[in-house]
Amino acid sequence: MTQPLPLLIFAGSTRAQSHNRRLAHVAADMARAAGAQVTHIELADFDLPIYNADLEARGTPAAAIRLKEIFHAHPAWVICSPEYNGSYTGLLKNTIDWVSSPVKSDPAWTSGTKPFAGKVVGLLSASPGALGGLRSLSHLTPLLLNLQCWLTPKQFALSRAADAFDAEGQLIAEPARQAVQGVVEQTLWAAARLSNA
Ligand code: FNR
Repeated sequence: MTQPLPLLIFAGSTRAQSHNRRLAHVAADMARAAGAQVTHIELADFDLPIYNADLEARGTPAAAIRLKEIFHAHPAWVICSPEYNGSYTGLLKNTIDWVSSPVKSDPAWTSGTKPFAGKVVGLLSASPGALGGLRSLSHLTPLLLNLQCWLTPKQFALSRAADAFDAEGQLIAEPARQAVQGVVEQTLWAAARLSNA
C-alpha cells in the first residue's frame, strides 16, 4: 500500500477572520478527503522578526529552523495568499526570506533552496475584491520558481471572499469548491509523480 502523501498548507495572513485562513481550512479538508497526510500550520505560531542579516548573524531564530524542517519534509504544499497592493503580503515574504536564508553554522541548512527545491506548490488566494487576489499569485509564482519549486498549472483566486463562506466556513458556490478541489488534486497528483514520498 502506498503511503499517504505529506501535504503542507498555510495562509499568508494571521488575521482572526482571514478569508485565506478560511480557504486553507477548506483546502485542507479536501486534501484529507483525497487521502493526503495534511500538516496545516498557522504562521502566527512562528515567532519571526522582520528579516535582518545583522540579527541573523547573531543566530537564526528557532522558528525559522523549525519552518525549514517543516517545508523540507513536505513534497506538496498549498499556499493561500492574500493580496496587498497587488502583491503578496509582507508576512509571506518575510517567512519565505527567513526559510530560504542559508544557515552558515548548520551543515543541514547551508543551501538556501533546500527547503523549497522540488516541492509541488498549488496556489490559492482570496480577497474581498473582484480579482480575488489573483495578482498576488502572479507575483508569488516567479518567487517560488526562483526557489526551484514546481507550480501547478491550476491556480484559483476566490473573489468577493467576504460573501463566499457559510457560517461553518464552507464555500457556498459549487464552482468555487470545484476550483479549489482542482488545485488540491493537481498538487497531490504532481507531487506523487515528482517526489519519492
Ligand atoms: C489590501 N487588500 C487588497 N485586496 C485586493 O484584492 N487587492 C489589493 O491590492 C489589496 N491591497 C491591500 C493593501 C493593504 C495594505 C491591505 C491591508 C489590504 C484587501 C485584502 O485583500 C483584504 O484585507 C483581505 O481580507 C486580506 O486577506 P485575509 O487577511 O482576509 O486573508
